[in-house]
Amino acid sequence: MPTSIDIHCHIMPGVDDGSPDMETSLKMLRIAAKNDITHIILTPHHKPMHHNVSPEHNVAYTDRLQQALDREGLNIKLYSGNEIYYSDETFRELEEGRITTLAGSDYVLVEFHPTNPYKAIHNAAYQVQAAGYIPVIAHVERYSDMVSKPARVEELVDMGCLIQVNANSVMGKYGFGISSFTKKLLKNRLVHFVATDAHDTGKRAPELLECRRFVDRKFGEDYGRRIFYDNPMSIIHNETI
Ligand SMILES: [Fe+2]
Repeated sequence: MPTSIDIHCHIMPGVDDGSPDMETSLKMLRIAAKNDITHIILTPHHKPMHHNVSPEHNVAYTDRLQQALDREGLNIKLYSGNEIYYSDETFRELEEGRITTLAGSDYVLVEFHPTNPYKAIHNAAYQVQAAGYIPVIAHVERYSDMVSKPARVEELVDMGCLIQVNANSVMGKYGFGISSFTKKLLKNRLVHFVATDAHDTGKRAPELLECRRFVDRKFGEDYGRRIFYDNPMSIIHNETI
């Protein structure tokens, strides 16, 4: 089975609502290894009015988790990142280098409130680009204004955004509507990344294998390889997608 790369997860211990401690993080990483995940970008939440991990601490915590992982003998390479909850502060924080980009690249993972109007999402993407970064829209299937009008996803792609969906959403764990929306996007090749958005070892574990098999079978192995491996690797190498 080909390997995959996860660009969105909350496996870094003790920094957000994801893994609470090192033991849980290592359990999550063992699950990731079983899912043939070989590279992971850790993306702790970066939110307004929150105690966020500074880029310096982010790198230090990533190194510490990598060392623990190496001692376990697991073959996974970790990178630092953030999941940015978009706010009026984001532009300035990006310009001042107070947010960690994905694996140190020009790509940034951006999320919104589920009921944010499309206009706000579109404007936010533009702001991120104006700051010099390429927006990766986190779990696009969560925003009601996108689900109600899938053509808007294409608009974002046309303006240079990249689209991420959660594996759990594709596999129907958030209901039929969300699942069929993500499948429609996959069919139209509007998805650039499938990620775990893992928070724990249970319902939100770092699992990609079932979804990878499904995408390979249903939408072709070439597309599967592109969105589970090649595109994520292009982020790691800071190459154009
Ligand atoms: Fe997330």
